[in-house]
Amino acid sequence: MRRIKNVLVTGGAGFIGSNLINYLFYQTDFAGRIINVDKLTYAGNLNNLKEIESDYKSKRYFFEKVDICDFKNIKKIFEHYEIDTVIHLAAESHVDRSILGPAEFIQTNIIGTFNLLEIVRGFWKGKEDVLFHHVSTDEVYGSLGTDGYFSEETAYDPRSPYSASKASSDHLVMAYYHTYNLPVTVSNCSNNYGPRQYGEKLIPFIISRMLENKEIPVYGDGKNIRDWLYVDDHSSAIWRIINQGKVGETYNIGGDTELENIKLVKMVCRIFAEKVNEDVQKYESLISFVKDRPGHDRRYAINCNKIKRELVWKQKTTLMDGLRDTLKWYINNNDFIVRLKNNQFEDWVKENYQSR
Ligand code: NAD
Ligand code: DAU
Repeated sequence: MRRIKNVLVTGGAGFIGSNLINYLFYQTDFAGRIINVDKLTYAGNLNNLKEIESDYKSKRYFFEKVDICDFKNIKKIFEHYEIDTVIHLAAESHVDRSILGPAEFIQTNIIGTFNLLEIVRGFWKGKEDVLFHHVSTDEVYGSLGTDGYFSEETAYDPRSPYSASKASSDHLVMAYYHTYNLPVTVSNCSNNYGPRQYGEKLIPFIISRMLENKEIPVYGDGKNIRDWLYVDDHSSAIWRIINQGKVGETYNIGGDTELENIKLVKMVCRIFAEKVNEDVQKYESLISFVKDRPGHDRRYAINCNKIKRELVWKQKTTLMDGLRDTLKWYINNNDFIVRLKNNQFEDWVKENYQSR
């Protein structure tokens, strides 16, 4: 086991980052400090960390509003907090946004990652027990036909500006391992869902539409397939890698839960109807098939046997339980959805469809 003292989490105010920080403080025996570096883009929300702020702020939890592309200030943070572990999540993360405007994706996902790597390359020279963990996506592997799975050996074939920028950052991370012996690990994960996910992603988007009685847009024929993983299971996998992962290795993480989008949408409608005591028909009738996402990857399915076998990890949450908890959270935290309205979200939704 590595000694882990001062962990820099990038993108900790986002969906997975905030779940990870909550997970580390409340569900593990981690005893060190977490320094959350986040630029607070439209997707970052410090409300995601309000319990942490009241329980640990300035004791074991520190927040720094800094862009990962800002070399000088990020370097200062490394020195000030004596960072020994990086969990790098900060990114532009939404495929549709990358189609509308790729520039930010190139900047944050590629240049931002390069910047962090350059800093740790200098700062960690001669230090032991240090690790740079890079959180990536299964989308780097491209699109599958009706059978087969992505494994860690699958050749990269990214097809959207988002996945191309993530693939590029993965390559940089591995290049720093091979060239400079930088201790790195990489994980490539499938679609996450759970509390605190920003409203643009499929599941919170459907929920917000049902809450407002608006059309639920399903892209194309609705038969694209994704593999769904509850976000806490992603956090537990990342923590397993940080503690026991082998330097220089990539680990795939998935839910073993492949589903056509339309089936998932109907499942969410059914659970929502149960929760609010209404007829499912009321919500299913909101479903509307709309023009497809350009270059829409048909199927993702991930083989995550390596992390199961080598690090003895497995998913704990079934899709049904995870969706029930997620819907409960959104219904009880309606302010999260209301906040979207103050964030030009509807303007973005319109622009997204009109651009096709
Ligand atoms: P998110 O969009 O919810 O959060 C991203 C966070 O990064 C936000 O808090 C944002 O403010 C911050 N950020 C963006 N640009 C920044 C910059 N230049 N400097 C500092 N902070 C910046 O994303 P997420 O869904 O939580 O994804 C986190 C990571 O996990 C990403 O790297 C993503 O590629 C990866 N991932 C996501 C999924 C998924 O299903 N959501 C699956 C696999 C991998
Ligand atoms: O596979 C991991 C990836 O999963 C992550 O790397 C990305 O950060 C994350 O955003 C997610 O990408 P997807 O494009 O798969 O997620 P999204 O929620 O945007 O869409 C899921 C599926 O649902 C996809 O096939 C597109 C479809 N969809 C999406 C939306 C928002 C619809 O049919 N209607 C919608 O309104």
